[in-house]
Amino acid sequence: MATRRKFLGQGAAMIAAATVPTLGRAATPRFSQLTARPATVQLAPRSFPETKIWGYNGEMPGPELRLAQGARIQKTFLNELPQASSIHWHGVRIDNVMDGVAGLTQPAVEPGQGFDYDFVVPDAGTYWYHAHNRSAEQVARGLYGAIIVEEAEAQDIDREEVLILDDWLLNPETAQIDPDFDSRHDRSHAGRRGNFIATNGRHDLTLDVKQHERLRLRLINAANARIFVLALSGMEGWTMALDGMPLTQPKPLTDALILGPGQRADLIVDVTAESGKTAHLVRIEDQEGASQVAFPVSGRAASARREPPRPLPSNPGMDVSGTKKAVTARLNMQGGAMGTLDAAILNGERKSFRQLIEANQFWSFNGTIGMTDVPLVSVSKGETIKLDIYNDTSFPHAMHLHGMHFREVTKDAGLGHLRDTLLMFGGETRTIAFTADNPGKWLFHCHMLSHAASGMMTWLEVT
Ligand code: C2O
Ligand code: CU
Repeated sequence: MATRRKFLGQGAAMIAAATVPTLGRAATPRFSQLTARPATVQLAPRSFPETKIWGYNGEMPGPELRLAQGARIQKTFLNELPQASSIHWHGVRIDNVMDGVAGLTQPAVEPGQGFDYDFVVPDAGTYWYHAHNRSAEQVARGLYGAIIVEEAEAQDIDREEVLILDDWLLNPETAQIDPDFDSRHDRSHAGRRGNFIATNGRHDLTLDVKQHERLRLRLINAANARIFVLALSGMEGWTMALDGMPLTQPKPLTDALILGPGQRADLIVDVTAESGKTAHLVRIEDQEGASQVAFPVSGRAASARREPPRPLPSNPGMDVSGTKKAVTARLNMQGGAMGTLDAAILNGERKSFRQLIEANQFWSFNGTIGMTDVPLVSVSKGETIKLDIYNDTSFPHAMHLHGMHFREVTKDAGLGHLRDTLLMFGGETRTIAFTADNPGKWLFHCHMLSHAASGMMTWLEVT
């Protein structure tokens, strides 16, 4: 308890110090600012104190970036945090130098410093931005927001809602964020999972609707490690897009929708519940349903339901031209509690699992913990990469590829939906393929952020 109090005290002192200095750098003309800084928000119910978070422009979630397909984002990132940071634009097919991976595509931005992010957003869909330095801490403290890229043609909906799902690990008395971001247990098991679940920073998000209203729901899983299993009640709908990319046909939402960390889903839902009832986005946990978002129904928008939606327009140039000539690589994931890892290379030296536990490093890709000097695969622009990934661990992992979307190669050699994050369960082998059409150094890592911090990171190179 004493150490815990000390830790919290230090944190508070650091935050106070960091808010004082004035920044020597202002936003470049035409660029607007996105400033990461400490703030407080009423996260827990009002009977609890406000929670100290880190947010963009002091908001949590950060400001929504909404723009037309093909438009340009110009943001001066200013760092008013007590530690270095950077911003990654998750899912955006972006120029490598703008990808925001501290240590790979840019140096981390030190406190008091800034960085100009400037890029075009080629694809319509639901994306998000988040801190990409010490992510297991910085994302858990609230450094994320939505990027919404609108299709050229308006869709047949009445309204849309962006729903960012997260779980917070809070001290149950003080409602402050648990500062043990490097927890050995979290790292070696399922990652940092919260005890307080929220949508857009609200534990009781409630949105008034009408019967037969048609909504587009843009779901983003911003949690460090939680896999959200979701269903509808009092609403019927379709999955329209996954990880930003439209499905060729809307898929009726009859089964549960599983959203791993980093993943997104666009749904179109019709409110079927009658006036006076409440519809829900339901979260399923241990076979029980809880309300993630409540939609009280009052009145009617129309006398009947409308026709099923048409597919969203596809995004440009996303084809995998066949995998016959593909450059093939394999990724074996090992480690964690109850795993098969006896030893692995850490910083160039072979270490026993016992030594790895001491180093608080638990996960290997092809026998190595963390980033290697040489990429997992290196290809020239335009080649196809096919990756066989074996999850030889007891835990699920959400593997995220930066810079390009991939398709899963299914058992019958067909190709699945375009995605940027693949949720894999223990014991599974899955294959993905993509055209490496975006030059640069691209990170490929587990989006369970405590796993990434304890070894689950590699990179690919497109020259
Ligand atoms: Cu959403 Cu490398 O991250
Ligand atoms: Cu993982």
